[in-house]
Amino acid sequence: MHVPDWAGTLGEAYRLALTHLTGLPERPVGSGAGPADMRAALGGPVPDGPTPPAEVIAALAAAAEPGLVATASGRFFGFVFGGATPAALAADWLTATWDQNAGLYATSPAAAAVEEVAGGWLLDLLGLPPHASVGFVTGAQMANFTALAAARHEVLRRAGWDVERRGLIGAPPIRVVAGADRHDTIDRALRFLGIGTDAIVPVPVDDQGRMRADALGAAFAGHSGPMIVCAQAGNVNSGAVDPLDAIVDLAHEAGAWVHVDGAFGLWASVSPALRPLVAGAPRADSWATDAHKWLNVPYDSGLVFCAHPSAHRAAMSVRAVYLEHAEGGERDPLDHNPEFSRRARGFAVYAALRALGRTGMAALVERCCALARRFADQLGAADGVTVLNDVVLNQVLVRFDGPDERTRAVLDGVRRDGTCFMSGTTWQGRAAMRISVTNWSTDEADVDASVRTILKIADA
Ligand SMILES: Cc1ncc(COP(=O)(O)O)c(C=O)c1O
Repeated sequence: MHVPDWAGTLGEAYRLALTHLTGLPERPVGSGAGPADMRAALGGPVPDGPTPPAEVIAALAAAAEPGLVATASGRFFGFVFGGATPAALAADWLTATWDQNAGLYATSPAAAAVEEVAGGWLLDLLGLPPHASVGFVTGAQMANFTALAAARHEVLRRAGWDVERRGLIGAPPIRVVAGADRHDTIDRALRFLGIGTDAIVPVPVDDQGRMRADALGAAFAGHSGPMIVCAQAGNVNSGAVDPLDAIVDLAHEAGAWVHVDGAFGLWASVSPALRPLVAGAPRADSWATDAHKWLNVPYDSGLVFCAHPSAHRAAMSVRAVYLEHAEGGERDPLDHNPEFSRRARGFAVYAALRALGRTGMAALVERCCALARRFADQLGAADGVTVLNDVVLNQVLVRFDGPDERTRAVLDGVRRDGTCFMSGTTWQGRAAMRISVTNWSTDEADVDASVRTILKIADA
């Protein structure tokens, strides 16, 4: 077996990683690089011959550096991105080093067992039924897809139709009832599943983007066949959580499957103080969430849970003559997610959970929410600035007096300044700055410095 100079190559990567991580407090959070700069730095013809790996790594890092957005920074507040806790990042390094294929128990007993254990911990922490099945996927998009595949299986099975065998042509039509302000990944999952977006009956939402439970009756009316209700824990703009308790009651009464897209909001369940916000969630039929958001595991890492393990497995499992499928009660991960061969994402999730523990996880979520309120209090107290949403979780929507262009100009100015990074959105037809506090390392000083920068740019 050829043994390369591991120390030389990995030593270089380690040095560069440390430079990146320890430099986060000082570096601009955004990237000013344009596509031409990046292509020039990274491009060129196919290399004629080999280059020593340590040299490749040094050159790659140097070329990529101007195009990196410091998403691991405690002052990155864009989209809903988490950072990576030290334990999760280190476990992710080992995941790449070990290079396990997490498809089957036989190809990695360690990867299969770590998913089983971390999956059980997650069910406990999130307050979900202990018998629920768990899948480790790339993100909430695929978690929504997987959960809705299980839902599709089960609602059609109850209608006497085997969708796995017969497909959807000729199947009883499925109605999907979802809030008008649902995340776009629900629609995309329905496209992937052949259910199609025309199957959606949108339910009106309130001023925070929450599905109105009193409008569910009308959405159910005139349909007695298979039905799936997609509720949301954590509106991507406002952070608002649908009234899950009422939705689950009404949907189950109507014989529907309830799916909860809780990409970030489901993590409220880990905090005794915030748990009432997601009351009713444990009684749903399936759930999607992200580990790469509030658990602060490196990209990519999503989680799907299903209260009907047999439906989950019916939708996902696969048998191939050349594979060694589990026969003695072991867990084959590929029975729970759409991938076949797969990265062993469970190691980083396990390490993150083990390092934080129950109290650490609750503290992380509560700290982010408190810091989001700090943003809202300070910005809301400034002249000419309006906080548009009720800050119930980690999301803050801010608008600056004047036309939409003003809010967009402030956002552009903040990004150019580099102290912090926010993203924009359109909320109820008007431009807004969107602040998401999801990073484990963010502290009060980060919020205060960011507010000073935002107000300085808004006043300029
Ligand atoms: C409510 C909701 N659902 C789904 C997603 C998609 O998550 P991912 O990008 O991890 O697939 C997001 C992303 O922010 C979200 O907020």
